Amino acid sequence: MCGIVGFIGAEEAGPILLDGLSRLEYRGYDSAGLAIYGAGQGLQVVKAKGRLKVLSDLTQGGAAIHGSVGLGHTRWATHGEPSDVNSHPQVSGDGRFAVVHNGIIENYVEIKEFLERKGVRFVSQTDTEVVAQLLEYYYTGDLLGAVSKVLHRIDGAYAFGIICADCPDKLVAVRKDSPLILGHGEGFNLLASDVTAVIKYTREVSYLDDGEVAVLTTDGVQVYDAYLQPTEKELCHVDWEISAAEKGGYEHFMAKEIMEQPEAFRKTVFPRLKDGRVVLDDLHFDQAYLRGMDKLYVIACGSSYHVGMAAKYNLEKLLRKPVEVTLASEFRYCDPIVTENTLTLVISQSGETIDTLAAMREARRLGARVLSVVNVVGSTIARESDDVIYTWAGPEIAVATTKAYSTQLAVTYLVGLYFADLLGTISPEEYEAVVSELLLLPTKLEAVLEQRERIQYMASLYFNHPSIFFIGRNLDYAVGLEGSLKLKEISYIHSEAYAAGELKHGTISLIEPGTLVVALASYTPLFEKLMSNVVEVKSRGADVLGLTVESRGDDMAKTVDHTIRVPDTHPMLLPSLDVLPLQLFAYYVALQRGCDIDKPRNLAKSVTVE
Ligand code: F6R
Repeated sequence: MCGIVGFIGAEEAGPILLDGLSRLEYRGYDSAGLAIYGAGQGLQVVKAKGRLKVLSDLTQGGAAIHGSVGLGHTRWATHGEPSDVNSHPQVSGDGRFAVVHNGIIENYVEIKEFLERKGVRFVSQTDTEVVAQLLEYYYTGDLLGAVSKVLHRIDGAYAFGIICADCPDKLVAVRKDSPLILGHGEGFNLLASDVTAVIKYTREVSYLDDGEVAVLTTDGVQVYDAYLQPTEKELCHVDWEISAAEKGGYEHFMAKEIMEQPEAFRKTVFPRLKDGRVVLDDLHFDQAYLRGMDKLYVIACGSSYHVGMAAKYNLEKLLRKPVEVTLASEFRYCDPIVTENTLTLVISQSGETIDTLAAMREARRLGARVLSVVNVVGSTIARESDDVIYTWAGPEIAVATTKAYSTQLAVTYLVGLYFADLLGTISPEEYEAVVSELLLLPTKLEAVLEQRERIQYMASLYFNHPSIFFIGRNLDYAVGLEGSLKLKEISYIHSEAYAAGELKHGTISLIEPGTLVVALASYTPLFEKLMSNVVEVKSRGADVLGLTVESRGDDMAKTVDHTIRVPDTHPMLLPSLDVLPLQLFAYYVALQRGCDIDKPRNLAKSVTVE
């Protein structure tokens, strides 16, 4: 959730660290800090509550602090309110150690009390300070020895960057259940919580595994296992362009990423369609396994969970197998019924969401096979899955997901077709119909995005509504969940999504004259049923913004206040088209309200705490 960057080399570290932090700010943004070691100056620490700009102004873009080895951090507070003193780096009482940390130290209270009994004075409310103080407590001149003792003493999830004033030619990196990558350069090396922070400097990276400790110097990187035995790491080349992580003329990353969806869809789907067939070379399933599969369990959080909701409707129809979608945070604690014949489909953009990762590990422990759908190459979920299929959306920077959601959906279509074909549960005609529509879909997505000015106009009519409801049935319901989440997370308007038929079982009491209801009616088999629900809310005075396919647009327009039309397509693929107007609506509503769209309050990209 927070961002970590570390640099060691010949150049001034400050500007490089701040540049890295600026690319990580989407991961956390309530405070930030730097610790830089300079010859003759010792360990200098500057921290500031607020956005990175405050720190940048304070340090003249990093140039005011001299030294060529250092750490930077941008924080999303867990323990202790956002404040200068709670910002990272946290420093030991003797000023020898500075630590940046992502994650949570679960037993920090007990360790803090232990150290306090030994006379250690704490200045912050953070769990991270415990680590800095514990390093001081264990340090007897052997840096790695002290690190190792600390790791044996703490429980929880963490990624650390550590600098010690006694060893200014070294940076130490450690991880467990929180991502940390190493960037390998010529005459310099970097550590970071995300590749976006290093690709301006190097494209050669390696991924630390749980329990590993890395020591970075100017000339090299040595990685050790949990027993401090040297180990070799494979270098991976990151081949996307730095521009992929920049705004490219758009006001917000979210706007850019919304507009990138047709291309992201093409990149994810087209290489996997060959001569009219879905070819998933990455997967290793056969008919016998799928025939014996008792259940498909989809595990995910947030928007990725909403992809799972849409996938359930499609996959059950295609495979005639039960599909259960569960929130990862619930899965672990619900005593799930999982056998070795259960396939779990784990969906995660970041591949690091701790709830999803923990649920996936639990599923594996219970014997299930794991197929994951992940965007970030080399992420923990991808590495720990039996099979992984990547979404090729490119880096997603805005906190609110758009293009990752769309490409996840796209992958579920491919998996559905691939499994149904193996199982023989889809007719050749149906298979061909879906594949032909998949090929047309990017152009149709572009056509929907062309309507953005009209959607902006609609947003201008409703941006100050206190509460907005989304209703739909079947796939439209699944998309409504995502539309509602998009709206509330970036515009802070209260919103709920309902299965339209369920509304009259309680929630309809909230509908009053002027309430806005967004009615999704693109799933044509249920168009008439949905329209009955529209009439119910209209007769209670609601304003209705309707969303349907071209062929039903005129019918819908007779009843609703405004209609958004998306091109007709195969019903299974409708979520891809429907979600775009909802993303745009959320974006323009938030814009009108002056919200900080890319960095909504209280949120952070990649939730690595439980
Ligand atoms: C909402 C959003 C979140 C994520 C959720 C899971 O816009 O982005 O709800 O979908 O935190 O994240 P991943 O997919 O990285 O596991």
